[in-house]
Amino acid sequence: MSVVVITGGSRGIGASAAEHCAQRGMGVILTYKSDPHSAASVVERILASGGKAVALELDVADISRFDSFREAVQLALQTTWGVTTLGGVVNNGGHGLFNPLETVTEAQFDGLLNVHLKGPFFLIQALLPLMEEGASIVNLTSATTRVATAGVAPYAAFKGGLDVLTRYMAKEFGPRRIRANSVSPGAIRTELGGGLNEEFETLLASQTALGRVGEAQDVARVIAMLLSEEGSWINAQTIEVSGGYFI
Ligand SMILES: NC(=O)c1ccc[n+]([C@@H]2O[C@H](COP(=O)([O-])OP(=O)(O)OC[C@H]3O[C@@H](n4cnc5c(N)ncnc54)[C@H](OP(=O)(O)O)[C@@H]3O)[C@@H](O)[C@H]2O)c1
Repeated sequence: MSVVVITGGSRGIGASAAEHCAQRGMGVILTYKSDPHSAASVVERILASGGKAVALELDVADISRFDSFREAVQLALQTTWGVTTLGGVVNNGGHGLFNPLETVTEAQFDGLLNVHLKGPFFLIQALLPLMEEGASIVNLTSATTRVATAGVAPYAAFKGGLDVLTRYMAKEFGPRRIRANSVSPGAIRTELGGGLNEEFETLLASQTALGRVGEAQDVARVIAMLLSEEGSWINAQTIEVSGGYFI
């Protein structure tokens, strides 16, 4: 059985991705940062529908703990699935920030950098020894890398950096037949950045060709596809999943 790690699997897109992966027969190691109860609920739902999942604590901004996280992943692989390797890693966990460029603080800037670029870089480096031939990396980026959206400058810039990093991962890990792709959501109804209010949602829906904002499962299905056999010839791509945002 292929086992995948999904960071930020306690809610939103990551939780939905965990459930979609489990439905496709993958084992899921999902992580949470501050909410073990929600993570446990996702695990329970997966177990109740016949899948297998484990929740581990991880702050992707805390690189100093990545070695112990790898050990926890190794232990989970052996005790829950009786295997030693990973079939995929999804860099999904993180937070958003709405603050105009002129008032962003250094701490806010560094917080976004650590979570959306530095953390994913070193997490993949830490987990690479566990990744099997044919494994799949999925990095969550954002349509704000394509459409400049006032108030999210550092977030969008680091997501743009992650898109570039995706292609370098694909290049350097290709000899091991490890693929890397970015999934770039448009506006999705989750709790990111405090969630969407009605007025903002109406505006975003009017800017989207399909006339609504996305749901977590709209993105989760694409993540699960990229982690599975159907995605096995897709590599080094940024796939926008936005219903046609600002086209
Ligand atoms: N929603 C959108 O409109 C949208 C659009 C474009 C891109 N994205 C991207 O999609 C990904 C998922 O977003 P979402 O909308 O599902 O967000 P969400 O509903 O706010 O969920 C965020 C998840 O990330 C975890 N998390 C937060 N900070 C973390 C950290 N420092 N280390 C590890 N995990 C952390 C949270 O864990 P706890 O709850 O346990 O703290 C939670 O599981 C993010 O990378 C986001 O940038 C979202």
